[in-house]
Amino acid sequence: MATATQTRGDAASRASIAKTETAVASAQPSVQVAAPTRREFLYYIWGASMALLFGQFSAITVWFLFPRFKEGEFGGIFPFDPLELPAAGSPPQSVPSGRFHVSNTENGLIILYGVCTHLGCLPKWVPTNVRFECPCHGSKFNLNGTYIEGPAPRGLDRFPLVVEYSDGTTVETGSGGEPVVLDPAKAISAIKVNTGRRVSGPARGSV
Ligand code: FES
Repeated sequence: MATATQTRGDAASRASIAKTETAVASAQPSVQVAAPTRREFLYYIWGASMALLFGQFSAITVWFLFPRFKEGEFGGIFPFDPLELPAAGSPPQSVPSGRFHVSNTENGLIILYGVCTHLGCLPKWVPTNVRFECPCHGSKFNLNGTYIEGPAPRGLDRFPLVVEYSDGTTVETGSGGEPVVLDPAKAISAIKVNTGRRVSGPARGSV
């Protein structure tokens, strides 16, 4: 009799314990972290690739938008004082820091790159001979940079320029590096040379 009573007591006790455990389990928040599926994983990779691509594109855009050279630095826009402009037909004005010569010819203003088109020496203006002469192999060039003689394959290269007048108008070099014809009736307020873009000098035989 006592055994039967004890058995019922044990069963009741186990049932009570099970009930308590169920209550505790239901009271705790269930935290279930599902592992990403293969498709979600590919989405993540694709998103990261797009973000990287966009970042690179933005960086390249910024790189090209901002000038790489400061004004007055070789490779960038180089200001030239209009007061130093030589008279038409007179010897050129050399600007060593900009590596160019300002030649004011009878046909207009030209900026000549000061490096020989043969092997890169520095031709000098020789007043007695009224021409540029290269000290290395003897190439010679006119005031407007056209080829005269020697091993140079062409005339001196040119830099484009912009002339600003005090009335706000401007005149600039054409795409072929042609001389800029100045208006004698207007006052020049600024001359800007683009040392970042070089136009090939005229072929041999050009005048
Ligand atoms: Fe000028 Fe050769 S480098 S002629």
